Amino acid sequence: MNTIIRTTDSENVNMEVVNEAGAVIKRGGLVAFPTETVYGLGADGMSGEASDKIYEAKGRPSDNPLILHISDLEMLDKIVCEVPPKAKILMDNFWPGPMTLIFNKKAEVPYKTTGGLDTVAVRFPSHKVAIEIIKAAGTPIAAPSANTSGRPSPTKAAHVIEDMDGRVDMIVDGGDVGIGIESTIIDVTGDIPMILRPGYITKAMVEDLVGEVLVDRVVVAKTIEEIGGEYKPKAPGMKYRHYAPKAELTMYEGPIENVIGVINKLAVETISQGKKVGIIATDETKDRYESGQVVSIGTRRDEASIARGLYGILRDFDTMDVDVIYSETFYDDDLGQAIMNRLIKAAGYRIESV
Ligand code: TXA
Ligand code: MG
Repeated sequence: MNTIIRTTDSENVNMEVVNEAGAVIKRGGLVAFPTETVYGLGADGMSGEASDKIYEAKGRPSDNPLILHISDLEMLDKIVCEVPPKAKILMDNFWPGPMTLIFNKKAEVPYKTTGGLDTVAVRFPSHKVAIEIIKAAGTPIAAPSANTSGRPSPTKAAHVIEDMDGRVDMIVDGGDVGIGIESTIIDVTGDIPMILRPGYITKAMVEDLVGEVLVDRVVVAKTIEEIGGEYKPKAPGMKYRHYAPKAELTMYEGPIENVIGVINKLAVETISQGKKVGIIATDETKDRYESGQVVSIGTRRDEASIARGLYGILRDFDTMDVDVIYSETFYDDDLGQAIMNRLIKAAGYRIESV
């Protein structure tokens, strides 16, 4: 397939590009586009056939449901049965923005889009390019992250081109995304909202508005044992190995001096075995490492900078061809919870206390 690649400014949106993208979606094709979280791979979410194409292009298991992206609340009415009061409060505060809500679906939403579930995930993004493309398509756009299944999510068009060139009809390059990790997913079908995937909208932000909030145990688990073999994550996607760089990633947790000491020692040993080592450090610590390819993920003073840097760095290590990666850990509160959730999954739960 010949992939059309078009560029637009993220603020001053080029409507020719938008209309072309809308037309591709309308005729059942695939368009990758920027959102404020990560790049999405979009298709007409009301067409089972179009959704099928997404699974094929990503190599994604078909039981892993897609998020429907809307550009106004009228679209929501067409796809969900009811909006519970707590959901309404969250929508009023965080939409448009990096929050996905799980509702009971209307019959019109194809099971191909929801992976066979009777619920549907919905997000109203705030990125201007995303909103305009949904409007132009005139239909809710089903869009997972625009990476090959299992790889780190794309935070810039170059990442999308790497994974999707030749596999999709069109890629819209709207520059680098702002947030860098996927939306917070909250199930609002029960009495107490439950966070299924942490993101930029934190548990504390949700609690402030609606009181008690549950968190699915896969979100906080640091070991596979904590999750338990039989347990099924409420967001099916959370069970798959994810975000993974090609090299084996291990995280070291403990007082930062210990972490730096252990990583320095391991790096020397590993390099002496003829292997290439990558190290995930921060602005505060990067000069303390004595060997290996040291990359700063951001500054500890600003967790948002770490979120923004995360997926790009995991991809960079693939290009550098390192064999193993050693990483520092981050506080797992607020946005840190989302950062640690992604890194632990990228590390396949290899995390050691030092
Ligand atoms: O920020 C985002 O959410 C990005 C951008 C493109 O909007 N999208 C994204 O989609 O991250 P994806 O497909 O990579 O992740 C969607 C997650 C999966 O873990 C999936 O299992 C879960 O949402 N999900 C979708 N529908 C669901 C449902 N009805 N019930 C529970 N989980 C659901
Ligand atoms: Mg994804």
